[in-house]
Amino acid sequence: MKVLTKDQYLRNLQAGGELRGNVKVPGDKSISHRALLFGAIAKGKTIIEGLLPAEDPLSTAECLRSMGVSISPIKKGKIVEVDGVGLNGLKEPKDILNCGNSGTTMRLIIGLLAGQENHHFILTGDKSLRNRPMKRVGQPLKIMGAKVSGRRDGEFAPLAITGKKLRGAVIGTPVASAQIKSAILLAALNAEGSTTVIEPARSRDHSERMLKAFGANLEIGGEMGRHITVSPGKDLKGQSIIVPGDISSAAFWLVAGSIIPGSEIIIENVGLNPTRTGILDVLEEMEANIKLKNKRDVAGEPVGDIQVFHKENLKPFNLDAEIMPRLVDEVPILAVAGCFCNGISKIKGASELRVKETDRLAVMARQLKKMGAKLEEHQDGLTIYGGSDMKGCDLDSEDDHRVAMSLAIASIMANSNSTLRRSEAAAISYPDFWNDLKRLQQRN
Ligand code: S3P
Repeated sequence: MKVLTKDQYLRNLQAGGELRGNVKVPGDKSISHRALLFGAIAKGKTIIEGLLPAEDPLSTAECLRSMGVSISPIKKGKIVEVDGVGLNGLKEPKDILNCGNSGTTMRLIIGLLAGQENHHFILTGDKSLRNRPMKRVGQPLKIMGAKVSGRRDGEFAPLAITGKKLRGAVIGTPVASAQIKSAILLAALNAEGSTTVIEPARSRDHSERMLKAFGANLEIGGEMGRHITVSPGKDLKGQSIIVPGDISSAAFWLVAGSIIPGSEIIIENVGLNPTRTGILDVLEEMEANIKLKNKRDVAGEPVGDIQVFHKENLKPFNLDAEIMPRLVDEVPILAVAGCFCNGISKIKGASELRVKETDRLAVMARQLKKMGAKLEEHQDGLTIYGGSDMKGCDLDSEDDHRVAMSLAIASIMANSNSTLRRSEAAAISYPDFWNDLKRLQQRN
């Protein structure tokens, strides 16, 4: 394989111009991972339409294939078929499982494998993933009897898992994380006795919705649906799944359309699950011009089209810990939005951002400051002074997909052209991002 140096991915970003037209964002990343994982341990075939054909879901598919699950090729516009092997049918892989850059792959797979008795697994990932906290999953699973170890007392991959018979438990998670919750729910499917996960705040609920559709015995209770109980004993049955567009990918166009003069964009077929729509609440607080159209339910998830028009004099916003689980992946593009508001925006309660693919608070602060943004970085957030003149410069995604796309939108608002190093990172979640951007710009 030809190895490209990082300068070969250097992308020129043109300042100015408006974005106009329709765009269909790719399938939801969270739902895509879950469709593959639940399909793999169901009985019978699972048919997936709209699966995200990007690097992260490909990592999940590759890990599952190494454990004997047959998954048809994942290509844009192609239906994907998964031949489920049942709850106990995964084979012991002959080699290390590589989760690439994908935290969701690694964390959910830990839960999936912890109860595969007498099987031995090693999980690793790229440099970023090997530095992300994993004990938050291994620790609660230990309460169920799991054996998970790794570097620094189980905090970092490579991880080793010895499959054990697990027992049900009541587990309070320390952070509102859908990845931790989903790992425990996956482990619970095969445990002895029921398991209840109690979250400090409600995180995205795609696992709950999909597990119910696959026939799992799952109940949601407690205040705001924060107690989720799985009782084992039921097989999952293969399903037909339609994956809606990812609101976290739509977020770039929502902010771009709002801040770039003359823009008007329609984003089609976007997932509007209320555990994910925090960005829409923030845009409303900013008094952005957004219209939701054609709202419908598709395969158990709410979906709609979103139209966005440029708006002068956007108001600043305040984000706190309460809204964070509903927009955690949108903070980088919201940091860009803050630079073009009329006033001071504050992001608080966002320390989780420091342990994403990169330390997103530090990286966004570093890159936006190069452009001339006025902002302060705090341990758990950012204070952003809107309205500074932004200049074109040499930007770097620092290998983070959401940073790459956020900076691309910021660069359109600069007073001169920019370059972006490591722009290829966008392919982790949105392989067509650069083509879609060009298309929306060409209509000018
Ligand atoms: C995800 C949950 C979130 C999110 C990530 C995808 C998921 O992570 O940031 O991109 O699919 O469950 P946390 O669960 O760590 O908050």
